Amino acid sequence: MYRSNTCGELRLSDKDKIVTLAGWVQTVRKFGSITFVDLRDRYGITQLLFSESHNADLDANPLGREFVLQVKGKVNERSNKNNNIPTGEIEIVVSEFKILNKSAVPPFTIQDDTDGGDDIRMKYRYLDLRRNAVKKNLELRYQVNRAARNYLHENNFMDIETPFLIKSTPEGARDFVVPSRMNPGQFYALPQSPQTFKQLLMVSGYDRYYQIVKCFRDEDLRADRQPEFTQIDCEMAFVEQEDILNMFEGLVKRIFKDVKDINYTETVERMTWEEAMWQYGNDKPDIRFGIKLCNLKFPAHTFPAKENISSLIAGDFAVFNDAETVIAISVPGCSEYSRKQTDELTEWVKRPQIGMKGLAFIKCNADGTFKSSVDKFYSEDKLKAIAEAASAKAGDLVLILAGAEERTRKASSELRMYMADKLGMRKPDDFKLLWVLDFPLFEYDEEGNRWVARHHPFTSPKPDHIEVMINNNPVIADAAKYLEHPYANIKANAYDMVLNGNEIGGGSIRIHQRELQEKMFAALGMDAEEQQHKFGFLLGAFEYGAPPHGGIAFGFDRLCSIMGGSESIRDFIAFPKNNSGRDVMLDAPASIDEKQFEELQIKLNLK
Ligand code: AMO
Ligand code: AMP
Repeated sequence: MYRSNTCGELRLSDKDKIVTLAGWVQTVRKFGSITFVDLRDRYGITQLLFSESHNADLDANPLGREFVLQVKGKVNERSNKNNNIPTGEIEIVVSEFKILNKSAVPPFTIQDDTDGGDDIRMKYRYLDLRRNAVKKNLELRYQVNRAARNYLHENNFMDIETPFLIKSTPEGARDFVVPSRMNPGQFYALPQSPQTFKQLLMVSGYDRYYQIVKCFRDEDLRADRQPEFTQIDCEMAFVEQEDILNMFEGLVKRIFKDVKDINYTETVERMTWEEAMWQYGNDKPDIRFGIKLCNLKFPAHTFPAKENISSLIAGDFAVFNDAETVIAISVPGCSEYSRKQTDELTEWVKRPQIGMKGLAFIKCNADGTFKSSVDKFYSEDKLKAIAEAASAKAGDLVLILAGAEERTRKASSELRMYMADKLGMRKPDDFKLLWVLDFPLFEYDEEGNRWVARHHPFTSPKPDHIEVMINNNPVIADAAKYLEHPYANIKANAYDMVLNGNEIGGGSIRIHQRELQEKMFAALGMDAEEQQHKFGFLLGAFEYGAPPHGGIAFGFDRLCSIMGGSESIRDFIAFPKNNSGRDVMLDAPASIDEKQFEELQIKLNLK
């Protein structure tokens, strides 16, 4: 028997018991003639006391950091107790000890505030994983996993595995491909998601499917993106959008309850995509705080139903007059910003990532007066009217951006988040969910001057938009006027779940008739031959009694990182890749043997 107890288990009530522990040496402290050792395992840390009688033995076999040690001894009450750890009232008076394995000196200290930088910790990830902070994240991940599985199981979902060596499933990224030795010159693609398989399972009659599954996407990486990541992937048959929203709102609430003991009882707010873009400039808005956009000027075709208030900014200011879009936000309590602070904000919006030419502001002073960077061009009455339109109160600072629609809207959204961060309005343990609905079905691809599926090509148009899709030619005659093409306004039966400004899940009601699916592929520029080559299996399946169906997939890593209060999903993945898609521990990707190339009949042609 290697151990009778763990290093996190023993309490004062165990006093005088004879126990055996095994774990890693965290620290060794000599104290006169006695030696204290902190022994660590997955469950905690227990203090060991080696009395003078062990000194000769310890001198012959000195203990070092991260040595694997087994000790036998008696549980004793500590004289100076440590209230910071659960085992802090006891120690083990060692009678026997055995070094089970030695350790080289670790390249960084294995403790919460480690001295190891990111790169070194990733290279020695197996040591990094010993750290409490990382362990806590993986524990949370496992809790989320269990809560999801329990909920889905209780609701009759069945976990069914789907293959990894497949043909392309388009989710908007590049495929990772795998050459086939047995079929020279041919390649599998790794799934960007199990999308088509879960739809086929619906055709097969498994009306509630789920899988916690790896997806592979060759795309540019960010803090919330990995080339391989995990989805909680779900599909249901005989459902409408409302059924899906209710079921999966339930899933996330259950996860909150089981993992964080949060009773999220309120109904999840819903917002159309158009409203999200109008009010927040973003399709995944953080709605924990206000600071909504005031659309002072905007192109009519983008938001045809919205009231135009551009007369408020009519005047001699060329920047506003020439801009396609002018958007204001009102930041609470910042009217006393100094010149230095407003200059800093101006520099911030001018950074290439934001890309604006400048920033105008109106200070709504506490005494009811207004001071502005554009007071050359606008009377105080006009400034007041603009501030009022932006819902500013005395003491607020109105920030105004002007430029091309897409960039200005995006910049306004970024500025809104930046200010909220500055003002501490985005607390990591304050959670707010949101459904964003009615996304556009298509997205314009400038490079190819064509339509691409915004979600994926299996998403159904809103029922009353099907006719528009069928009856109009997808060809875009005038690229400059693509927004006026009827396809630009077709909405999808698609929904995203947003948590604190992050897209944690997305899905749709699917097309389940062959004819409509063919029309959809054609709208995306696929001729009959290409359709057959790429998706013949799905079109075929739709001829054999495909039920109405729909589903959703949650970004499991993202959900975990947000619940754990971190921006980076890497912290919640046991063995993540770095921002260049490398595993620095394995040093992968790597070259392969000449023999492997020969077997695959592949020759490199590196440029
Ligand atoms: P989608 O592409 O929106 O939908 O993906 C679903 C969720 O997966 C997460 N996600 C990622 N997480 C980490 N790294 C990435 N590279 C990454 N890409 C996406 C996001 C996202 O909301 N088959 C459809 C789902 C469906 O229609 O049912 C799909 O994959 O949180
Ligand atoms: P100017 O007349 O160039 O000094 O500009 C007057 C104010 O308008 C300054 O506060 C500028 O930062 C601001 N400004 C300039 N370009 C823009 C823009 N594209 N959007 C918003 N404000 C701008």
